[in-house]
Amino acid sequence: MPSASRSAPRPAALVWLVLAPLLLAACQEAAGLGLSPTTGSAAGEDAPTAVPSLAAVPRASRSGQGVDDIVYDPGQMAELPCHSMDFTIMGRCTAAEVERVATEIRRRVAEGELPGIVEAGKLAEDGEAAAADPVSIETIAAGDAADPERSTTGDGAAEAGAGPRDLGDGVVFDPAAMASFPCHAMGDTLMGRCTEAELRELKAQVLERRATAGATATPMALVQPGDLLPPDAAPAPIAGPQQAVALRSGETYRLRASPARWRVAGATLPAYAYNGQIPGPLLKVRQGDEVDVRFENRIDRSSTVHWHGLRLANGSDGVPGLTQPAIQPDGDWIYRLRFADPGLYWYHPHLRDDLQQDAGLQGVILVEPQDPAYWSPVDEEWVLTLDDLLLEGGRAVGYGRDAANFAIMGRFGNQLLVNGRERFSRLVESGQVVRVFLVNTANVRPFRISFDGAPMKLVGGDLGRVRVERYVDELILAPAERAVVEVAFDEARPYRLLHRGASEPVALGQVLALPARRGPSPARSAFDRLRVDGPISREMAELAPFRERAPDLELDLTVSIPDLLLSRETAANGDPHADDPAHGRIEWEDDMLAVNRASSSDTVHWMIRDRRTGAVNHELAYTFRVGDHVKVRLHNLSDSQHPMQHPIHFHGQRLLVLSRDGQPERAPSWKDTVLVTPGETVDLLLELTVPGAWMVHCHILEHIESGMMFSFQVLPAAEDPPPPLPDVIDSEALPPHADGAAPASDGH
Ligand code: C2O
Ligand code: CU
Repeated sequence: MPSASRSAPRPAALVWLVLAPLLLAACQEAAGLGLSPTTGSAAGEDAPTAVPSLAAVPRASRSGQGVDDIVYDPGQMAELPCHSMDFTIMGRCTAAEVERVATEIRRRVAEGELPGIVEAGKLAEDGEAAAADPVSIETIAAGDAADPERSTTGDGAAEAGAGPRDLGDGVVFDPAAMASFPCHAMGDTLMGRCTEAELRELKAQVLERRATAGATATPMALVQPGDLLPPDAAPAPIAGPQQAVALRSGETYRLRASPARWRVAGATLPAYAYNGQIPGPLLKVRQGDEVDVRFENRIDRSSTVHWHGLRLANGSDGVPGLTQPAIQPDGDWIYRLRFADPGLYWYHPHLRDDLQQDAGLQGVILVEPQDPAYWSPVDEEWVLTLDDLLLEGGRAVGYGRDAANFAIMGRFGNQLLVNGRERFSRLVESGQVVRVFLVNTANVRPFRISFDGAPMKLVGGDLGRVRVERYVDELILAPAERAVVEVAFDEARPYRLLHRGASEPVALGQVLALPARRGPSPARSAFDRLRVDGPISREMAELAPFRERAPDLELDLTVSIPDLLLSRETAANGDPHADDPAHGRIEWEDDMLAVNRASSSDTVHWMIRDRRTGAVNHELAYTFRVGDHVKVRLHNLSDSQHPMQHPIHFHGQRLLVLSRDGQPERAPSWKDTVLVTPGETVDLLLELTVPGAWMVHCHILEHIESGMMFSFQVLPAAEDPPPPLPDVIDSEALPPHADGAAPASDGH
């Protein structure tokens, strides 16, 4: 039986050895203030842990199973009043508050409730609870009097659509921001559904934080691509459109990243291009081929190339600090590519992708299957990259110089792009069938695509065919995901290429179907058949036992935003998304605007957290062997400070989604990127076929920058190797270290 194993000791344990004495000291200090630490009396005899020792429980030894794991972590959300999320107590707590909150968590669990969020203040005895409310009501009332339109309506929530409202002292309430969320504050902005009482409470919190922090925050320094070039550098050339290039096995292809200018929507933006093209060249190769790429970095910052979805030798994976050094400006590097699987793959930098990929460094690879009948017959094939850019005054909004901005929700663009251009258009003949290979290269935006009523059949995913083809009305594609659809343009008419987000569909371009000169294409009858993939069906039958098996890893997706303030009401009720099943609870647009923009990946901490050990992001360390199958359960926590969807990408291996919220996946296919919506639990099976050190991360580019990643090790197969699979790749030494490549250091 294949198995998962983990390495020890864990880095988390080491971190904890250093932190634990500090936490103990903090706890003792609280006790020294005359607050008597007591034992867990109210929880009854089965209370497993005496409260004063909670803080000393090392995270690395927690089992993640329940009340045994209650810890007090005073370092988390340190500026907030005492509260807990799940089994972690955080904020400014006295020993008595820790005790009360722990008791409440135990009570909830004993009564079969989820622990959720417990706020110490709410548990206080009457009289203690309604303590100080230092904000002056006059400030808000004065604002109201000045504008009768905004007069308060008792405790009712502010009406949606109202403009920002000045609460005095530089604090603003923007009811349009995050209107579907409960009341909260980021920086000096209050947002969400707030009652007047909550506005007063949060304003007081903002002022209090300001007083303790002393100085006001300095705005982030922003940059544009090419900023680091010498001032006398010649103007960069205008980027051309993507060109297809067929690569032969054994050849060495030159791929040069250089500064460029990008004409979009009437503006000319500073940008980067691969071989002068945005997107970069469309590389056409055959399954099983091997090609060397000589990457020449001629942009003004360090870069690498990651070959997204390829199961290639680890040394060519393009992850700085893990599989190679960052390639400094003027450095070169050789990548050896292998194409194990048919379908659509893509390439992009793996360093400050929020800037470099957004600014044009992205390209696609189309791998032609060895089996000529792998895909159904069609009349044409198109490759479409779906992307967006955030433009303002004829430029892209600046990128954080030292860290990514837009760290909370990612950078949603206001200009949608297909193949790097704002208007997509194609001609076909009515009756024709087109196979469309789609990839989402946006920083964060999910696309929901349809062809204006043209029948559409989903035939492929990230790594080749789906197990069972099916007709779909629309297709949701998260960043980095690919889909292969066949579209029948039966009528002679224009078909818009539509994206439907939270509101009305918008057209990304159009396909004009001209009257047919001949009868319907022979591909049309193939379109009417739904094929079942034999090899995947067999693989899935073999893997069926994993469905029932307990997960090897359980990972929570969550966030810590220390700058975020919650009202008591919000803290008590969690921070759920507006539950809209039709949208799959996906965030389609940035509804936080200024706040998201100002948020920095230095201070927003997106996390992948091991549910059993509590280890987070780079603290995670797993070791597997070639031949292992690892069942991973991803929980996207709906009670985090900002629940949103995360496309989780595994490098170098393939995976199958087994189920979502316990429901078997409808059209499974081999994938490398899985969209997990808020509150959702996804079971997936990771198949380990290639040895090396591989990344796992959220593909929202600002979330990578804020740390939402870890890596795992795959050792070569044990002495007794499993029977070879057709497309297993054996291990290989690092590619030759080309001469100009300097050691990793980018200053980011
Ligand atoms: Cu396309 Cu590590 O990513
Ligand atoms: Cu994410």
